[in-house]
Amino acid sequence: MGRLRQGRKSIKHMQLLDLWRDSVVRVGKRSYLAPSGVTYDMSLQNTCMSADCHAKKTEFCDRCHNYTGVVPYCWDCHIEPKEEKLQAEEKH
Ligand code: HEC
Ligand code: HEC
Repeated sequence: MGRLRQGRKSIKHMQLLDLWRDSVVRVGKRSYLAPSGVTYDMSLQNTCMSADCHAKKTEFCDRCHNYTGVVPYCWDCHIEPKEEKLQAEEKH
């Protein structure tokens, strides 16, 4: 991971999260048109952490953060994905 495309420059994932938060909280704009032409709902819970993307926070986000010693405080307020439920749903 590390870098996401944002127009012609690359930005880091936490910069994208800050951008989304500022847009929703300060400007009230909730949809994001990615350079790929896909529109996303700017939601940490419903988009980033959805079953289609990074549902497994402990495996995906935490493993890297533990290694690098980063502890985002975001989960004090935002709801973590319910991993047990998602894992049950993933049995194809
Ligand atoms: C003190 C509580 C609190 C903390 C801590 C917090 N947030 Fe939020 N965040 C909110 C609230 C309240 C909203 C507005 C929700 C809305 O209007 O839908 C919001 C909205 C957002 C949004 C846009 C809407 C959404 O539902 O995702 C993003 C993205 C976001 N925050 C990211 C972050 C990130 C990243 C962190 C950690 C660096 C963080 N927040 C930490 C309370 C918090
Ligand atoms: C490839 C490793 C890696 C992965 C995977 C990863 N992160 Fe990070 N994350 C980092 C690093 C490294 C930093 C600290 C960067 C810095 O401070 O410049 C960071 C910082 C953050 C921050 C800012 C924290 C702060 O206190 O400023 C947030 C928010 C964040 N990550 C959210 C997430 C979420 C949500 C996921 C899972 C969807 C995730 N990250 C997955 C490596 C990763």
